[in-house]
Amino acid sequence: MDNKRVYIHTFGCQMNVYDSDRIKTILAGCGYLSCERADQADMIIVNTCSIRHKAEQKAFSELGRYRKLKEKNSQLMIAVGGCIAQGKAQEVLRRAPYVDLVFGTRNINRLPEFIRAIEETGSRLADVTPEADYIDSLDEYPVAPPSAVSAFVTIMQGCDNYCTFCVVPYLRGRQESRKPAAILAEIRALVERGVREVTLLGQNVNAYGKKEGVPGLRALLEEIDKIAGLKRIRFTTSHPRDLSDDLIDLFGRMEKLCNHIHLPVQSGSNRILSLMNRGYLREDYLTLVSKLRKNSPDISITSDMIVGFPGETDQDFSATLALMEQVRFDGAFSFKYSERKGTAAAALPARVEEAVRTSRLQILQSLQEEHSLEKNQSWVGRRATILVERVNENNNADLTGRTSENRIVNFPGPPELTGSLVEVVISGAYLHSLRGQL
Ligand code: 5AD
Ligand code: SF4
Repeated sequence: MDNKRVYIHTFGCQMNVYDSDRIKTILAGCGYLSCERADQADMIIVNTCSIRHKAEQKAFSELGRYRKLKEKNSQLMIAVGGCIAQGKAQEVLRRAPYVDLVFGTRNINRLPEFIRAIEETGSRLADVTPEADYIDSLDEYPVAPPSAVSAFVTIMQGCDNYCTFCVVPYLRGRQESRKPAAILAEIRALVERGVREVTLLGQNVNAYGKKEGVPGLRALLEEIDKIAGLKRIRFTTSHPRDLSDDLIDLFGRMEKLCNHIHLPVQSGSNRILSLMNRGYLREDYLTLVSKLRKNSPDISITSDMIVGFPGETDQDFSATLALMEQVRFDGAFSFKYSERKGTAAAALPARVEEAVRTSRLQILQSLQEEHSLEKNQSWVGRRATILVERVNENNNADLTGRTSENRIVNFPGPPELTGSLVEVVISGAYLHSLRGQL
């Protein structure tokens, strides 16, 4: 039988990137090779995100582009997965009548069965029923492409935090952790294929193992650290409430653990933090930052921020800016609050006007740009160790890699260095990257 070709378009977070790689691996098992162009595919999968309204809009408009392909080729199968599929399966079927399959965030392992059913019956199918033991199906892990230097590994799924703005607990389910043995086996297999850096993924990675009573993230990191051939370990995302001293202690001490933490603060106002149900005060956050820096002075700290949460006053917003001035984040993702149906915040009074949200976002982003640039400039003239990831796409004479602090560095060098750790001297700084010399 000839191989069929599958094209996957991924929206949203790193979890979705990981899921898409798993989908590729699962489908390879039933004869689908992945391809780079939608118009060459026998099957198109859109892996969607619901985190904000804009993400949903983007996914629906992407889907709209495939209508024409379906009109030209009635054999083409179009599937929708991810968070929109999970939350709005019927709406997807209604808005996109050319979609054949809608599957959920916790039944990806059943894709071959769904495809067979559609081929046999010729009818559309929507099944988003979460699999009871879905976490164990993650042990059928993605096969990394042979050239990958860095790979994601999901160590937990779902979230129990119920931040009042967030849809994740509703669409990704409750928090569950994978077993350490399965994670270690997956990382060993990645290293055998040439991977040198892993990023452990979860909505709240520092709560790893809490519910299951297995040893926590620190113990897991200590085991991963022993894997020969692996050079770097990262993890994301950490929740300030669950960041314990024993984890903070590892930075600067465990050689393979990178000197970067993504620790979203969301707001600098205690009143808003409480309405968000974040479970910490700005003072707690600032204490974590000083502990982290005391342990490892150069540690890169990045954050997510939301502006225009319901009830956010000018004073609350100023408190966020003041916190940013105090911390001086190495980088931050910032967003206008987006109301998500079914979340607790959607019922809160005092919506912030769109124009106010827009202006606050601009103010916050320009402040962050100042800080990002300043932090990048502080590296000029210093030495840094880079894990070389690839030849630069825009300039073949350059290699691209990252410092332990997660800064992108471009520098001239031979392609053979891909996958190795090299020392460079930083010679230039931009907003989103650094320039270096071997
Ligand atoms: N509106 C705006 N931003 C949101 N985020 C999550 N939910 C929303 C929402 N409803 C942001 C948070 C989170 C990041 C992944 O997305 O900052 O940390
Ligand atoms: Fe988007 Fe959250 Fe779903 Fe990831 S888990 S795809 S960020 S809604």
